[in-house]
Amino acid sequence: MNRQWVMAARPQGAVRESDFRMVESPVPELVEDGQYLVRTMYLSLAPVMRMYMLDGAGIEKPMEIGEVMRGRGVGRVVASRNPAFAVGDVVQAKLGWQDYARLDASPYWMAYRVAQRLVPFSTALGVLGVTGFTAYLGLTEIGRVQAGDTVLVSGAAGGVGSNCGFVARNLGARVVGIAGTDEKCALLASKLGYDAAINYRTDDVPAKLAEHCPQGVDVFFDNVGGAILDHALARINRYARVVICGRISEYLKSPDDAYRMRNWDMIGKRRARMEGFFIYDLEAHFARAEAQMAEWIAAGRMTYQEDVLEGLEQMPRALIRLYEGLNVGKQVVRVERGAR
Ligand SMILES: NC(=O)c1ccc[n+]([C@@H]2O[C@H](COP(=O)([O-])OP(=O)(O)OC[C@H]3O[C@@H](n4cnc5c(N)ncnc54)[C@H](OP(=O)(O)O)[C@@H]3O)[C@@H](O)[C@H]2O)c1
Repeated sequence: MNRQWVMAARPQGAVRESDFRMVESPVPELVEDGQYLVRTMYLSLAPVMRMYMLDGAGIEKPMEIGEVMRGRGVGRVVASRNPAFAVGDVVQAKLGWQDYARLDASPYWMAYRVAQRLVPFSTALGVLGVTGFTAYLGLTEIGRVQAGDTVLVSGAAGGVGSNCGFVARNLGARVVGIAGTDEKCALLASKLGYDAAINYRTDDVPAKLAEHCPQGVDVFFDNVGGAILDHALARINRYARVVICGRISEYLKSPDDAYRMRNWDMIGKRRARMEGFFIYDLEAHFARAEAQMAEWIAAGRMTYQEDVLEGLEQMPRALIRLYEGLNVGKQVVRVERGAR
């Protein structure tokens, strides 16, 4: 049987387990040429999935009640009527929250074969997938990090942020991370390439920014928005680049409750540039990002952090964890027991 998580209700505020329902149906058969069947090994979690449930996040059409939850995964081809995908191939695609996905030649699935240069295959969803590309390309293409820069990263122990430390360090920058627990801060400095870390829940953030960024901030890579963005703007240097990757601290707020920024004027005063980006607009650079980070990992110049939950049944909980700050590194779920 094929277990599937479907959307049972649109989230009202925070995502809850009751917004999802598990259903079972027979494993799909291949009925047309071009189709192939993928057994899910790992599924990826990202904050944007809550927006898929609400309004499509401006990227896709909004999900329907009863629709299989959307999301990327990595899996193995177990049957194929598509010459581009042979049985045994490992693919990364929009598999959805289910044990088996029947795909076809449509570009909608964004399917590609995963090279076996690094195990586990979950890395195709993390450091060597779109999450890692967001860190690398956000810092290089949008942030234009240069050797000698001071780089500040919020959400530093999350999926994207946990890859930013080594990317910035390997580009010759000094890099400071902001995260929500002392354990995460210790990990940033000991394992994830950061020079220093700030706990935004317990530290005096402006004082710590002054201490750890004494020369000011040249690049701010922001995953969080709100008050943290405001504090960072207060310390930017002339010609700084402020990279707007995400703003998870604001996702659950109504427009009336949105944080009111006080330091916008710093953009003008410092002749700085603030730029948002959408990672799929940078698809032409994915292969370069993947090759560079794979090389760094092989050379011992980069490590990565994954937070792996076991079993498809964990998917709703895994998504909720992102909003509760419980994940450390890239949140994935191992769906196939024993998958590498
Ligand atoms: N622009 C793009 O194309 C693109 C692509 C991918 C992701 N994104 C965005 O990038 C950000 C990071 O994505 P991700 O997949 O790596 O997720 P993630 O960082 O793993 O998200 C979860 C983390 O966010 C932090 N967080 C949660 N609520 C918070 C709050 N109210 N204030 C401050 N921090 C909070 C928590 O860490 P703490 O313990 O530190 O609070 C939590 O562990 C998200 O905003 C996402 O939407 C953008």
